[in-house]
Amino acid sequence: MESDKLSTLLKDMSLEEKIGQMLQVSGVFYTEDGVLTGPANTVGYTEEEIRLAGSVLGAVGTEQLRQIQTRYMERQPHHIPLIFMADVINGFRTVFPIPLAQGCTFDPELVEEGAAAAARESAAAGLHLTFSPMADLVRDARWGRVMESTGEDAWLNGRLAKAMVEGYQGRGGLRKKGRIAACVKHFAGYGAPTAGRDYNSVELSERTLRDDYLPAYREAVGAGAAMVMTSFNTLDRVPSSANRRLMRDILRGEMGFDGVVISDWAAIEELCSHGVAQDKEQAARLALDAGVDIDMMTNCYCRHLKKQVESGAVSEALIDEAVLRILRLKNELGLFENPYKDADAAEEQALALCSAHRQTARRMAAESFVLLKNDGILPLAAECRLAVIGPHAANPEIYGAWSMHAAPAETVTMEAGIKNRGCGQVCFAQGCALQEALGDQDGQGESTEAAERLLQEAVELAKKADKVVLALGEHRLHSGEAASRADITLPACQMELLRRVCAVNKNVVAVIFSGRPLDIQEISERAAAVLAVWMPGTEGGNAIADVLFGDVNPSGRLSMSFPYSVGQVPVFYGQFRTGRPCTEGTQEKYVSRYLDIPNRPLYPFGYGLSYTTFAIGPVQADAQRMRKSDRLRVSVTVKNTGSVGGSEVVQMYLADVSASVARPVRELRGFQKIYLEPGEEREVSFEITEELLRFHDIHMNYVSEPGEFRVYVGNSSETKNEAVFWLEE
Ligand code: BGC
Repeated sequence: MESDKLSTLLKDMSLEEKIGQMLQVSGVFYTEDGVLTGPANTVGYTEEEIRLAGSVLGAVGTEQLRQIQTRYMERQPHHIPLIFMADVINGFRTVFPIPLAQGCTFDPELVEEGAAAAARESAAAGLHLTFSPMADLVRDARWGRVMESTGEDAWLNGRLAKAMVEGYQGRGGLRKKGRIAACVKHFAGYGAPTAGRDYNSVELSERTLRDDYLPAYREAVGAGAAMVMTSFNTLDRVPSSANRRLMRDILRGEMGFDGVVISDWAAIEELCSHGVAQDKEQAARLALDAGVDIDMMTNCYCRHLKKQVESGAVSEALIDEAVLRILRLKNELGLFENPYKDADAAEEQALALCSAHRQTARRMAAESFVLLKNDGILPLAAECRLAVIGPHAANPEIYGAWSMHAAPAETVTMEAGIKNRGCGQVCFAQGCALQEALGDQDGQGESTEAAERLLQEAVELAKKADKVVLALGEHRLHSGEAASRADITLPACQMELLRRVCAVNKNVVAVIFSGRPLDIQEISERAAAVLAVWMPGTEGGNAIADVLFGDVNPSGRLSMSFPYSVGQVPVFYGQFRTGRPCTEGTQEKYVSRYLDIPNRPLYPFGYGLSYTTFAIGPVQADAQRMRKSDRLRVSVTVKNTGSVGGSEVVQMYLADVSASVARPVRELRGFQKIYLEPGEEREVSFEITEELLRFHDIHMNYVSEPGEFRVYVGNSSETKNEAVFWLEE
């Protein structure tokens, strides 16, 4: 439809019909034939309200979506199509590694490729929009949703959020086949809940919000994301869905976002629980005023706006503005011409888990694994006698909390991956359950005997093996939404397994599955090698075998620091300068440190080992001084000094030595992933522009301040390889 016709359509719509467009209901309200069903309706919508709802979330599958759409449009007064949305977070039928793992690839192109594959699969299944990317910055491993973020660094998150948006949406318009719209979430600051507890309030200074938390959303918005979702949390005591300043002034005004804003699930009604709205009427008013266009899963808008417009308490112009944005999105997706978009049963079938997508998933998984420790026992030789032990060894549920369309039967387990590799003598044992059975933590009862038998069997296998691969980790639902944990160690039964196995075999490789950085201090001490594989997805097992046997040289680098212990969190490399900095190992008392643990995380951001070694030469800057209009080039030579080919992630960090406000000790401002054959050497260079040196100064202006800067180039956030330069007035 030509866009000017949308205004004519809007003028012709009744108030009720318009408000209907602003409601999103769940797909569980429909039967497979697209008929409305009663019992699932927990919100208490009337049939008419659901009938007018402009969008549906969570329903997938060509057949059902076609039916729902057809029936809806027949009755919708202007035959306006529905828009179908869902959480396609890390893949659809083909499951890619969780976003936190994707962060560890430091490979925006690969992340884009994964998002594009997910878009193709889900578009063919009838979807129009995904609630992804989650661009929230995360620094507290207790928070379960760190798995959905790409990590603790604003710069990396920004690059990857952009890559995801471009992967889903493409660059040629949303109508294009195989493309779906992207929704950036959760605006804003959802990644910083106090004490790591999900849905808790957020306290961020304006400067931290702007310097660290907003940039990744901004990148995603700049890449053209069609939608933005509000966050559940308060920011400066105001819940996002009622935060006019955040949604109108910052998102729309400063960032120039002109797409649709949707509330998070029930977030408008929750304005009452937050205590900023007395009732649903006021909640609806506040959210509309803040610029929230769609109410996800409450009846605040559909039941409480109309009478307020009629009484004059709410301006109809606000409603028109929201509805026009929604109609525009439907039009951009081409739904007025083709309400089914790419829904096609044959294609849905053909694309799901096709070999091209599986290959991308396998490559991405292998690239996301981070080798944290290696005493030299990896890679494994094909001929060794191997015991593969642990509750994750044969577990097909290694795909993260959001993959509700994944079928475990289609997932390659670690055991299957090792068998597929076809290596010498391998035997398998579960060793223990993923976690203690409820009620048996005190070690009573029958299940204790069964547990002991499992342990014994594992120990016997471990005794006879040359090497042991021990697959430990979290249950997939122990991270994700509403899955915060105060204790981020592994369950006692798994630790017992580790101790018993390590007592009989010194060659233990711990493979850790998790949705977050865990406290793995003891594992790291006992095991000879540690490989973090996150929740690796459909091809996880094959990818693990690729890396364990050295067919793929690990190149993942941590997107989030592994804490030394939970007492350190939030722990992240880009912390601020303090007045009493601590030098590692000091015994001095009055400095910023703990008495009982180090300040340093166990494994920092950017860290990761390889089967080869790289020598990174000194940082060469092409000048010592730069003017604001200059581009300063810094370079290093990187040489593969080992005997196998491998990829290195060369990282550039900048530090502002003295400024009007205390600055982070360093900040990532560039990275490049390069592959080098043994002996090969390459120059890697980065360009520093004045823009990279900006921050919010003492007056909250976004500027750079002249003076001394340090630039670090190396292969972790702790690199000491540095050069100094000056920015002139
Ligand atoms: C989550 C969102 C998600 C939405 C829809 C909410 O509970 O916070 O991230 O997109 O549900 O499923």
